[in-house]
Formats: sequence, C-alpha cells, structure tokens
Amino acid sequence: MIIEARELVKEFNGLRAVKGVSFSVNEEEIFGFLGPNGAGKTTTINMLCTLLKPTSGTAILNGYDVIKKPNEVRRSIGLVFQDPSLDERLTAKDNLNFHALIYGIPKRERKRRIAEVLEMVELADRQNDIVRTFSGGMKRRLEIARGLLHYPKILFLDEPTLGLDPQTRSRIWEYIKDLRKKEKITIFLTTHYMDEAEVCDRIAIIDYGKIIALNTPKKLKKQIGGSVVTITTARNELAKKLLKERFSLEAIETNNSLRFEVKEGEKFIPQLVKRLGVEILSVELHLPTLDDVFLKLTGRAIREETVSKRELMRKHWRRR
Ligand SMILES: Nc1ncnc2c1ncn2[C@@H]1O[C@H](COP(=O)(O)OP(=O)(O)OP(=O)(O)O)[C@@H](O)[C@H]1O
Ligand SMILES: [Mg+2]
Repeated sequence: MIIEARELVKEFNGLRAVKGVSFSVNEEEIFGFLGPNGAGKTTTINMLCTLLKPTSGTAILNGYDVIKKPNEVRRSIGLVFQDPSLDERLTAKDNLNFHALIYGIPKRERKRRIAEVLEMVELADRQNDIVRTFSGGMKRRLEIARGLLHYPKILFLDEPTLGLDPQTRSRIWEYIKDLRKKEKITIFLTTHYMDEAEVCDRIAIIDYGKIIALNTPKKLKKQIGGSVVTITTARNELAKKLLKERFSLEAIETNNSLRFEVKEGEKFIPQLVKRLGVEILSVELHLPTLDDVFLKLTGRAIREETVSKRELMRKHWRRR
C-alpha cells in the first residue's frame, strides 16, 4: 500500500468539507476520486499532499505520515493542480528548469530528465516557446511533465482533463495510461467525467465529503441489475406510481424522465408499452454506466453540462 488515508476530516469554519474518509491505494494503481462539485475531492488531495492540515485523522504516503513527515511526503509526490499553475511568461523548458531547481535535481541529471519528460508528453519541439502561446491541452501536458520531473512515487492529478475538448482529453488519458508502464508510478486522480473514471483500476465515489462506494468500475456497475431503461411519458408522476403498482419497479425521476433497472430490458419494453397505462413518448435502453451507479446511490445525477459550464466560468473569472 502506497497511500493509506485514515479517517481524514477537514472543517472550514464549521463547514465539514471532508467527513472521515478512509481508503488505501496499492502501488502502481490508477485510483480515481469521482464526485460532483464541492464533494471534497480537492480538499482530500490537499490533505494527502500536505497543503492542508487535517482537522482530524491522518494519512500515510510512501511510508510517511503527512502530519509528522511532510517533507518526506512532498519528496515522494508530484502534483498537478486543478487550476493552471505554470508561469505563462517563461518557456516550457524554463518552467521545468525552475521546478527541477526547487527540487534540487543535480544539473547533469536535470537536462536529461527534462528532455525525457518533454518527450513523454510530445512537447520536445515546443520547449523553447513561451507557455502563453500554448493551447489548453499543451499546457496541461506540460504540467503533467512537470509533476513527473523529480521521479515521484505518486502522481496526483486534480481534474487533469477539465475544460479540454474530447480529443485532447483522450490523448491526455493515453499519457496517463502509458505513464504507469514507463515510470512505475501510482496515479491518484479526480474527475467528474464518468467515462474517464472507467479507466481507473478502482474508484471511490465521493459525495458530500463521504465515500459512498469504492470498487473496480466493473464491480460498481454490477450493483445494477441487467439494464437501465429511461422513459418519458405524458404524465411522469402517474407513470412512476403505475411502474410500482404494476411492475414493482422503483423509478427515479431526472431531467423530466423516469429511470429504472430491469433484468432483461429488450423483453421488458414490449410488456411495458402494453401494460403501463400511460402514454409513453420515448424509451431508451442501455447497459449500466457509472452515472447510473451514482444516481442509484444518491438519487441525483452528476450533470456534466452544468458542471463544466460552471467550471468554465470559474476559469474565466480567474483569468480576469
Ligand atoms: N479554503 C476553503 N475555505 C472554506 N471552504 C472551503 C475551502 N476549500 C474548500 N471549501 C469548501 O469545501 C467543500 C469541498 O470543496 P472541494 O474543493 O474539496 O470540492 P471538489 O470535490 O474538489 O469540487 P470540484 O469538483 O468543484 O473541484 C466545498 O463546499 C467548498 O466550498
Ligand atoms: Mg476540486
């Protein structure tokens, strides 16, 4: 075990942002924290990285206690923050040089290592360009390269693909998956993109400062029987009641539609249309996703559109 969180709690002026979080991460694992805005993901990362002192509880990273041995912990980890943190006025290479200097990487090794990480994120040909001229995806890749520079045992990535277009997002994921092979590193990341969480070996789903589920993506989805059916009807309230009375099904209402689980969706749908007794306007059937798992556990959906819009606003304001 390379990370062990023991009952971590963080309070901000009476607000309990993290409410006793315990988990452990194995060496060379890709471990994901999945949860909506304000769930406590960044706060937990900050405690693990010694940037915030826990109100109570502690964590052991690479054998070191975050409270008793913060310097040893810092040497063991690389961190890519949720918000951009490069020096935009410097070149890519100088950003890395500066970081290497702070970490005391010897000069001869510095050069080789910088070349190596630049190669890894395919930025070698842009190393002498000013970061301000980089695209969002290039900046994120450079931040990942910087996080790796001092050979950390654990790399923390807080929302590594936030606000990037789908193509750039999938490329960043290629680097992340490659990294484990090349660097033998443990990766701890947070995301609220359900599809991205699927890449992780294990996921902790966090909501209101508590872990509500922790398992492999496959096992989490197995909690949901068979398939998920979503219908819209002329009268959702009545349809929900009839689903319970006539089919013993508990439906959850989201986005003006009703969602429920059945064993064999294909066979069930014709029955449903025949016997529900309310006009059905549309039917959708899919295999369980992590979104369904979150919905089942919390009764709410993680709405990606609203989340990313809010995030974009946040970035916009920060820039101003
Ligand atoms: N420095 C702070 N002072 C006061 N409250 C804080 C502070 N940092 C975080 N919080 C609060 O703690 C809660 C958890 O915030 P946190 O940033 O950990 O969430 P998150 O899961 O990372 O969300 P997001 O997906 O938006 O990044 C929020 O209610 C937030 O307002
Ligand atoms: Mg966060």
